[in-house]
Amino acid sequence: MVITVKTLILFTAIFLSSCVNKLHSESVYQSLGGYQKVEEIADNYILEIEKDPVIFEYFKESDVERYRAKVIEHICHHTGGPCEYTGDDMQRVHDGMNITESDFNRGVDLLINAMNTADIPYRVQNRVLAIFAPMRKDIIYRP
Ligand code: HEM
Repeated sequence: MVITVKTLILFTAIFLSSCVNKLHSESVYQSLGGYQKVEEIADNYILEIEKDPVIFEYFKESDVERYRAKVIEHICHHTGGPCEYTGDDMQRVHDGMNITESDFNRGVDLLINAMNTADIPYRVQNRVLAIFAPMRKDIIYRP
């Protein structure tokens, strides 16, 4: 069979477009590396909270096991993974905490540290942050 330049270009174009499609159809959950990575991020995040006296103040009476389970479900679900979130909604959970804007930003920094420790590439981290940042309005200043 003779492969013409035209055929070669066509096959290359099909191959490249399937790569681009894959890039776009991959969920953030898949890009993170699936369930194990979600667990790793949640565990790193909990360690970050424990090291940060300002943020830990909010959690000092929390049930860590429940928090870990709900945060894993929450990240898995919202990044497009196969999990159901069975915790409370974000407004209800954070009601009464009166979380300030600067403490919210501090919490985001801890999440970034947790993702860095888990070796999540920046482009994937940005996709994660783009999912969680809009929840800010349900979380801050809820006296
Ligand atoms: C986008 C940002 C955030 C998300 C997605 C988030 C998500 C969650 C989730 C899923 C839970 C567990 C809900 C449940 O037990 O039913 C939770 C609980 C909690 N969150 Fe957040 N959170 C965020 C930011 C923050 C910040 C910035 C603080 C404090 C500075 C905070 C403090 C807490 C506390 C104290 C609990 C309760 C733990 C307990 O005692 O059960 N959260 N959050």
